[in-house]
Amino acid sequence: MNTENPPEVVLGVGAGIAAYKVCELLRRFTESGHRVQVVPTAEALRFVGEPTWAALSGRPVAAGVWDAVHEVPHVRIGQRADLVFVAPATADLMAKAAHGIADDLLTNTLLTARCPVVFAPAMHTEMWEHPATQANVATLRARGAIVLDPDIGRLTGTDTGRGRLPDPAALFDAGRLVLARGGLPADLAGRRVLISAGGTREPIDPVRFIGNRSSGRQGYALAATALTRGAEVRLVSANVALPDPAGADVRRVGSAVELREAVLAEHATADIVVMAAAVADFRPAESAPGKIKKTGEGPSPIELVENPDILLELTRRRPRGDQVIVGFAAETDHVLEHGRAKLARKGCDLLVVNQVGEGRAFGTEDNQAVVLGADGSATDIPNGPKEELADRVWDLVAARLTRPDTGR
Ligand code: CTP
Repeated sequence: MNTENPPEVVLGVGAGIAAYKVCELLRRFTESGHRVQVVPTAEALRFVGEPTWAALSGRPVAAGVWDAVHEVPHVRIGQRADLVFVAPATADLMAKAAHGIADDLLTNTLLTARCPVVFAPAMHTEMWEHPATQANVATLRARGAIVLDPDIGRLTGTDTGRGRLPDPAALFDAGRLVLARGGLPADLAGRRVLISAGGTREPIDPVRFIGNRSSGRQGYALAATALTRGAEVRLVSANVALPDPAGADVRRVGSAVELREAVLAEHATADIVVMAAAVADFRPAESAPGKIKKTGEGPSPIELVENPDILLELTRRRPRGDQVIVGFAAETDHVLEHGRAKLARKGCDLLVVNQVGEGRAFGTEDNQAVVLGADGSATDIPNGPKEELADRVWDLVAARLTRPDTGR
């Protein structure tokens, strides 16, 4: 981040009870050096008052089009912004934004902003699922706005369902990643992405399993960055202990068989499928119903059977010729040679090959790779944060997507 000239974030606050969580989001922005202008709607101030926003942002709150009119706030705030982040985005606020209604300072700002706009909706499940809301969300996404799917969980009152505002830490990460793109267009807008992440565990008995060292970081970084490029993200997560990326629809699985089921249930509607999960090649032929006990006669061998090759199944069952399928390959030696052979064998469009072992790739923050293309291309991605690698992978994917307007 440029500390001399830190990014200008407009934090639009809608009238929802989740506004209290947005105080924490604001703190994260200001503490990491961003300048933040809070623009609450008039009704939002019923939930969290002006003094709180002013104190946490270190700036007067901009709430009305009639305040400081000589500064033309209804135009200037949007024009100056590097990012507009609306949280909680209510059904009403998104309806107005989708239809270009500008009846207060925040909705005016949404019309004048030319920077990336993120909406973090929070509302009751019925309101989120209503066709009117879904149509408005689709309109906003098609125009390049980033609309994060709400989380599933406890809502106001005693009910639970989809509609909860994601955690402030995850929202902040989304904002940080969008800013890091420096205003580049949301080139995955309107695309549905299916990502598998983590490592499968193959049960031996109720307490033991055969597993691997995958932390899920690379898959989660792919999910978080795809969201910031406008994609709708389904994340099939195998044994990952990381916080969910804000806006992703996460399904949790344990074994390879469960992962296969979850992936096959979603792949037909996906534009892009990325198999970043480390899938165990073998599983115990049987999982003992109770904990295996020592018998005093030494260990008994565990018979293994082969797991289905999910990536191979996905490429063989492509629902459309233009679906882009990306595989990962973890290799310890002869990386390129094995990678080329694997790409051909699996039939995917891109294979991200990284060298593992001796502290490389698994569980680390950084990663490096070479991405092999079915077209014979090879792209080196130098060592760097997993989010950067993820962004380079999305660049390569985006270049292979069929454009809806031209058919190519
Ligand atoms: N994969 C899969 N199903 C499996 C095994 C792997 O879908 N049963 C996917 C992984 O998600 C990854 C790719 O295939 O995208 C390559 O995984 P890797 O473990 O490197 O390859 P393997 O198929 O296991 O080949 P090998 O054992 O020869 O290295």
